[in-house]
Amino acid sequence: MLVIGGSASSYLARRVARAAGLSVVPVESRVFPDGERYVRVLGDVSGQRVALVQSMYRRPDEYLFEFVLLARTLKDLGASEVIGVVPYFPYARQDARFNPGEAVSLEVVSRLVEFSGVDRLVTVDMHLHRYSSVEEVFRIPAVNVSAMPLLAEYASRAYNLSKPVVIGPDEESRQWAEKAAAAIGCECDVLEKRRVSAEVVEMVPREVSVRGRDVLIVDDIISTGGTMAEAVKMVLRQGARRVVCACTHAILAGNALERVFQAGAHDLIATDTVPSPVSAVSVAELLAKTLAEL
Ligand code: R5P
Repeated sequence: MLVIGGSASSYLARRVARAAGLSVVPVESRVFPDGERYVRVLGDVSGQRVALVQSMYRRPDEYLFEFVLLARTLKDLGASEVIGVVPYFPYARQDARFNPGEAVSLEVVSRLVEFSGVDRLVTVDMHLHRYSSVEEVFRIPAVNVSAMPLLAEYASRAYNLSKPVVIGPDEESRQWAEKAAAAIGCECDVLEKRRVSAEVVEMVPREVSVRGRDVLIVDDIISTGGTMAEAVKMVLRQGARRVVCACTHAILAGNALERVFQAGAHDLIATDTVPSPVSAVSVAELLAKTLAEL
């Protein structure tokens, strides 16, 4: 198997290749003066299985199109199998028509990825809300691996968590909280909204007390930081000793980092699916292991 990195993920592709003991095929990718994209595969891929790594953030549309160009070119050049490795899969949150006339973007993007000719897809902690698995989203074989165990193990080691409990900010995040908690052998729960009075709504854990404990709040994505900041404030108000936040995809739009820290977080960690100042955990070995199993 060979590895190719798109513009968004050339460094991650190298790390995956190194972890898997595979070679990287260089690509030339640039934009013509008229704004059109040019790609060229600078190596022989004929008869080879190729892992094409492209995490589609921070410029999802541009990276998606480059991915389609590269995948189809690899097939044209005779690659025997192209495995799309898309650690951050974009548009997953627009998985329904919430207002009349809207595009169901996830549907369109997943069809585009299939059209690119990739034979299978590997993604990491894809935001699945109305779908229960990636098999429902894609018509090609797809694997969704989770970085939550890596994040939880890192947090447990780095912060020496005392009486830890993992909390998800909402019901949707239960899937991440359960995986993180299982990895470090502790309890988990999710926050739910409770009306305290006519004016005040609080978010409290459903069952588990956070009082006097170190709390690890986990989510798949931190975008504006609003969800995480609110969750941090709530568990601190309920007596948490220290709060560490973790997410797989650190989109960190605008002042998201400041919002989370201003809310009282002790620290925030993420993976390198989206390179960021808090990307303390690499998914390279996880992806290498996943590729080895395909
Ligand atoms: C939403 O359902 C996701 O799991 C995250 O909770 C959400 O995307 C976070 O967004 P923000 O950081 O803008 O609150």
